[in-house]
Amino acid sequence: MTVGGSNVGEEPVGGSGPVRPLGHPRHHREEVGSTNDEARQLGAEGAPHGTTITADRQTAGRGRQGRVWVAPEGQALTVSVVVRDLPHLELLPLAAAVAVAETVGPAAQIKWPNDVVLVGRTRPDDPPAGTELRKLAGILCEARPHEGWGVVGIGLNVALELDAVPEEVAARAATMGRSPNEREAVLGALLEHLAAALTLSPQRLLEQWSTRDVLQGQEIGWTRPGGGPEGAGTAEGVDEQGRLQARDAGGRLHRLDAGEVHLRRG
Ligand code: BTN
Repeated sequence: MTVGGSNVGEEPVGGSGPVRPLGHPRHHREEVGSTNDEARQLGAEGAPHGTTITADRQTAGRGRQGRVWVAPEGQALTVSVVVRDLPHLELLPLAAAVAVAETVGPAAQIKWPNDVVLVGRTRPDDPPAGTELRKLAGILCEARPHEGWGVVGIGLNVALELDAVPEEVAARAATMGRSPNEREAVLGALLEHLAAALTLSPQRLLEQWSTRDVLQGQEIGWTRPGGGPEGAGTAEGVDEQGRLQARDAGGRLHRLDAGEVHLRRG
């Protein structure tokens, strides 16, 4: 189980194409199973680029690789956006991570493929102390490449009260440290950053992503849930398709696909 915004970070980065605004139409639910499920349904029905679902409460929030996503009501932003006709749909997870990190500010880093984390702190403005990674946001992208659309779902701990969640969760989580009623302002900033990130060329996006790559140069190991070769090596950033590159002790470069591997550090 994974648990999990106006000075909201930096200005949106300049893109290479026209910015297509996100957030319209907007559907807000008090309670929903999963905002991603609802966005997928709307996407399948032809909802336009930028259609946005938010919820106060999810009863069946989903994370990557079949995990469950739980967030205390009112303390996190839970949002899913339908995107269409992106030239590089496969890079949506990286663009989303860059957008979330920019919304949080300079302290936010990215753990491949798209966990937004803080290192050695629970809030972006805390002084860093230690090297443990604390998760600030999770991102779940679900694409229909042949139909030209996808959904990006983001759970962002805007106002998570760390002393009100189970200890094992508090030990691995971070929060923006904002108030619950700032979620709407954070959402506005996030959608602007995401719209800008979606205009970036692959090269520029990977540059932006790499400046926040918390695994760069770190020793990592990987396993494949369905079987297949396990491995270990040094992380060397991502390739143009968003795969993590890792060089093993024999000098061989491995390209890891986010849907296929479980990662561990050190
Ligand atoms: C992860 O880290 O495993 C991804 C978590 C993604 C959670 C968000 S919350 C909004 C959207 N709706 C879902 O059911 N999941 C995503």
